[in-house]
Amino acid sequence: KVVAVIMVGGPTKGTRFRPLSFNTPKPLFPLAGQPMIHHPISACKKIPNLAQIFLIGFYEERDFALYVSSISNELKVPVRYLKEDKPHGSAGGLYYFRNLIMEELPSHIFLLNCDVCCNFPLPEMLVAHRRYGGMGTLLVIKVSAESANQFGELVADPVTKELLHYTEKPETFVSDLINCGVYVFTPEIFSAIQDVSLDREDRDFVRLDQDILSPLAGKKKLYTYETMDFWEQIKTPAMSLKCSALYLDQFRHTTAHLLASGDGTKNATIVGDVYIHPSAKVHSTAKIGPNVSISANVRVAAGARLISCIILDDVEIKENAVVMHAIVGWKSSIGKWSRVQAEGDYNSKLGITILGEAVTVEDEIVVINSIVLPNKTLNVSVQEEIIL
Ligand code: GDD
Repeated sequence: KVVAVIMVGGPTKGTRFRPLSFNTPKPLFPLAGQPMIHHPISACKKIPNLAQIFLIGFYEERDFALYVSSISNELKVPVRYLKEDKPHGSAGGLYYFRNLIMEELPSHIFLLNCDVCCNFPLPEMLVAHRRYGGMGTLLVIKVSAESANQFGELVADPVTKELLHYTEKPETFVSDLINCGVYVFTPEIFSAIQDVSLDREDRDFVRLDQDILSPLAGKKKLYTYETMDFWEQIKTPAMSLKCSALYLDQFRHTTAHLLASGDGTKNATIVGDVYIHPSAKVHSTAKIGPNVSISANVRVAAGARLISCIILDDVEIKENAVVMHAIVGWKSSIGKWSRVQAEGDYNSKLGITILGEAVTVEDEIVVINSIVLPNKTLNVSVQEEIIL
C-alpha cells in the first residue's frame, strides 16, 4: 500500500498571498476553477494501491472540512485533514502524525508541497524510486541560473541520479537543478527525522530541506527524478494566475469537458482555455479568454471582455467592462465601461491587478497595475497604486 501526504501549512504562512489569503486558506484558492490542492490530490489518484491521502497543516479544521468530504466522495479515496496544534516544520509535521500515517503499514509515502504547480509524475517517480533502492526520491527540475536561488539547489550524479549535494536557497550559485517539493519515501524517513529531532533543542521543529535533505546528501539514501515538463511555485497571486493557465492547458489534454466551449449560438464567444462554473451567468455577447476562470454565481453582462483573469465567487461584471491580467475578489463589482487591467508581468509586484473581497469599481473607472484591499469603493481611476 501507498499513502500520500500534502503539506498545506497554515495561516501565518502565505502572507505574500495577501489580500487573497484574508478569507480563504491559500491551498483552497482556485486555479483553473479548482482549489489549489485539488490538482496534486487528483494526481495522487494515479498512484497504484493508494490507500489514503492526508493533508497536514495548522489551519482550522473547519476550513477544510467541506472540501475534504467532497473530494473523498469524488475520488473514492479517503482524504483526511490532520491539524497540528502549532507549526512543526515540513518534516516535523509529517513526523508528528507518524502513527496515523503508518496505520495502514504503507510501503511508500508520497510527500507533496501544496504550493507547487506541475503535472506530478507520481507513478513514474515510484518506479524510479524502487529502481534506485534508496530511502527517498525527490522530483527535480532545471531552472534558469538567475531564479535557482529561490529554491533548494542540488547536485545529482548524472549516471546513478544519487543526490550528492543539497543547499536550501543558497546565497551563491550552486546549481540550476532545484527541488520541486515533491517526494516519495520509504517509512525509514521517520527514523531519519527522529535522529535529527533528538539532537535538537527545539525537538518539535524539523525542516525537511535543511535538516534532512542536506545532511543525507551523498550517503546513498536520496535520489532524484528529473521532470522535463512544466513546474512552478505558487507564492504570489500573480503566480496563481500563471499556474491557472498551465492547469487549464493540462485540462485540455486530460479533462477537456471541464473547459468552456464557444459552440452554440446562445453562448458567449470563447477564446482559448476558459473555465466557467456551471452556476455563472455569462451574456452571449461577452467575449472570454484565453486563460480565464470564472467561479460560482458570477454574472458577466453584455459586451464585457475578459482576458487572463481569475474571477472569484459572486462577482458582478457590468456591461462593456474589460478585465485583463487581473484577479477579482469575491463579491466585487465592476461598473459599466470600466477597465481593470495590468501588463501581466508575473514577476513584478504590481504586474497584475488584484481586487480584494467586496471591492466596488464604479462605472467608467480605470484601474491599472494596482492592488485594492477588501471593501474599498473606487470612484476615481488609479494606476500603480496599493489602495489600503
Ligand atoms: N503542515 C505544515 N507544517 N506544513 C508546513 C510547515 C509546517 O510547520 N512549514 C511549511 N509547510 C509546508 C508549506 O505549506 C509548503 O507546502 C511546504 O511545507 C514547504 O514550505 P517551506 O518550508 O516554507 O519551503 P518553501 O516553499 O520556501 O521551499 C520548499 O519548496 C520548494 C519548492 O516549492 C523547499 O523545499 C525548496 O527546496 C523547494 O525548492
